[in-house]
Amino acid sequence: MDLIYLEEIDSTNKYAKENIDKIPDGTIVFTDNQTAGRGRLNRKWMFTGRDNIYASMILKPSDTMVEVYSNLTQLLCLTLCQTFEEYGVSPKIKWPNDIQINGKKISGILAEAVTADRKLKGIILGFGINLNTSKEVLEKIDQPATSLNIEIGKNIDKKEFLEKLTSKFCLLYNKFIEDGFLLIREEYKKRANFLKKEVTVRLPDKDICGIAEDITENGALKLLDKDNNEQILLIGDIL
Ligand code: BTN
Repeated sequence: MDLIYLEEIDSTNKYAKENIDKIPDGTIVFTDNQTAGRGRLNRKWMFTGRDNIYASMILKPSDTMVEVYSNLTQLLCLTLCQTFEEYGVSPKIKWPNDIQINGKKISGILAEAVTADRKLKGIILGFGINLNTSKEVLEKIDQPATSLNIEIGKNIDKKEFLEKLTSKFCLLYNKFIEDGFLLIREEYKKRANFLKKEVTVRLPDKDICGIAEDITENGALKLLDKDNNEQILLIGDIL
């Protein structure tokens, strides 16, 4: 993957969006100092120090692969988990693409699609990873959070982590574009921490409570709601 390094930027996702025409397919934009990071559900992504990862992957798949676009975050989520596992920890996935260790968030993904005249210009997968953060800084985050250095008791080489992650992602990417979520379904499910549990899913217009039954072949969440109706959710976030 090509890399674009920015010493400081408000948001790597915003930069990627604004420069989408100039950035080639398969590029990672990353910075050491992100001053206005954005998260899902209109949240902010806090700057937690220069030794953490703030990056956006730019992908420009062909128009014929529309069905799998929304699953690309899940591919990144799985490869992030597999990278963490190389450091001896056991990450878990909160649907669709939060990564937690011992119930605390260590990484999040913000996916955005850029279109013009109904044509896809590119998909931006922004990800933040707490690699080397102090406990004091983690406490300032608005939800329970952890960092890899704290989990394993030593500092992490940022460049090495990013290389491991991108090589895992690239290995699977082409096949994933053809086969879709099914390619990773079992590996994804193995790491899911919400299956068979009662969950609340936030949709744009409402929250739904129910039992998370399964992840379908398309990566959707199969939920049995309070009235025993089966809901297949392709969007939303488990709270
Ligand atoms: C979330 O869990 O809410 C998603 C967080 C995504 C944060 C990353 S950091 C790099 C990229 N640029 C942004 O502004 N956000 C993403």
